[in-house]
Amino acid sequence: MTPLPGAPFLHRRGSELWLEDVRLAELAAAHGTPLYVYSRGAMRAALVPYQKALAGRPHLICYAMKANSNLAVLQTFAAAGCGFDIVSGGELRRVLAIGGDPSRVVFSGVGKTAEELRFALDRGVRCFNVESESELILLSRLAASAGRRARISLRVNPDIDARTHPYISTGLRGNKFGIAHEHAVAMYRQAAALPAIEVAGIDCHIGSQITDTAPYLAALDRLLDLIEAVEREGISLAHIDLGGGLGITYGDETPPAADAVIASMLARIDARGHAHREILVEPGRSLVGNAGVLLTRVLVLKRGGERSFCIVDAAMNDLVRPAMYDAWMGITPCTLRDGQPEVWDVVGPICESGDWLGRERSLALAEGDLLAVTSAGAYAMAMASNYNSRPRAAEVLVDGAAAHVIRLREAVDSLYADERLVR
Ligand code: LLP
Repeated sequence: MTPLPGAPFLHRRGSELWLEDVRLAELAAAHGTPLYVYSRGAMRAALVPYQKALAGRPHLICYAMKANSNLAVLQTFAAAGCGFDIVSGGELRRVLAIGGDPSRVVFSGVGKTAEELRFALDRGVRCFNVESESELILLSRLAASAGRRARISLRVNPDIDARTHPYISTGLRGNKFGIAHEHAVAMYRQAAALPAIEVAGIDCHIGSQITDTAPYLAALDRLLDLIEAVEREGISLAHIDLGGGLGITYGDETPPAADAVIASMLARIDARGHAHREILVEPGRSLVGNAGVLLTRVLVLKRGGERSFCIVDAAMNDLVRPAMYDAWMGITPCTLRDGQPEVWDVVGPICESGDWLGRERSLALAEGDLLAVTSAGAYAMAMASNYNSRPRAAEVLVDGAAAHVIRLREAVDSLYADERLVR
């Protein structure tokens, strides 16, 4: 059998699938399906290579909470010493809700509202990753009127191809993100002249699900060139934020380990004489992706047509990655059964042909069986919707033999509680 993504936390004992010391079929029986289940051990283990690679130099690991922003997940990373990368006022509220420290938060995003900027200034976030001249000017005005100074870095668009899906590639000239690297020096000059702005660093994020070190190094070289040019103007940059983006294994991908990628980047940073700078990173997927599974039950097996369909109770509203990015995610039975595998398209009940979780999967199945979609810890529940008036799934965090419900299943009447009839 091929090893399960998320092993050793996700593993088989006999025919049964376990996450840490909890049998997944038991959780589904207790809490119903669809159900997201995460391993706390897997999250902590995924963080270790980042911590090891950065130990011994000033650094801050800012978990990119857009990947999975459940409060208990944030709590896990805060307790392990992480800060957070946020992209909205709502995400900042989540940090505050767990008693997190805003001075360990970096605020990214290409379109921040005045209200969000004011709120973040007021709470004292550590750094604004500024993505446009308009944002810089607005931030400076808001900071001045609040009697504060905003610490900023410019998010530079290095025009590097991260060689990933076009929807999650962010470091190319044609993407909406960041400031074109050829404009960055002038904008640093402008920022340094603004009274309520304090230039703190430089930032770059070239994409997500990156499975190769080369694009990181190419982007880093551009950043280091820029730092040197900016410092020649007498503007100092204390930190380098390397962004996130490291890929995980869903199926046959072989991304480099986080410590290896960081080590190669640090080697380049040191070789070019920048060893004194503080390093920030913004990993999301690589910390949580392989820590989670989505449990779903088989409702109907439909044979006899051109294709055979396995219709399950989870759908694109629960997990949109396959529909949205054509993403391949593992699907495996929670209890293996004897019998000839057949080839199934595993699909949800939503009224769209794009509502699929996996295509052409060879599985021995019966109606009522429980399946686990693997590597579902990142950009899964975080992207869930209520399409077709489907309440969002419950979430459980497993820690050793303990299982904690960390989000209740949404109540159907809450879906329309804020709606109003017209009189
Ligand atoms: N920093 C910034 C500024 C970002 O935009 C992102 C992700 C990250 C860090 C974290 O990247 P990660 O380490 O997770 O790759 N929904 C897509 C992924 C979107 C990524 C958006 N930005 C998916 O399901 O594949």
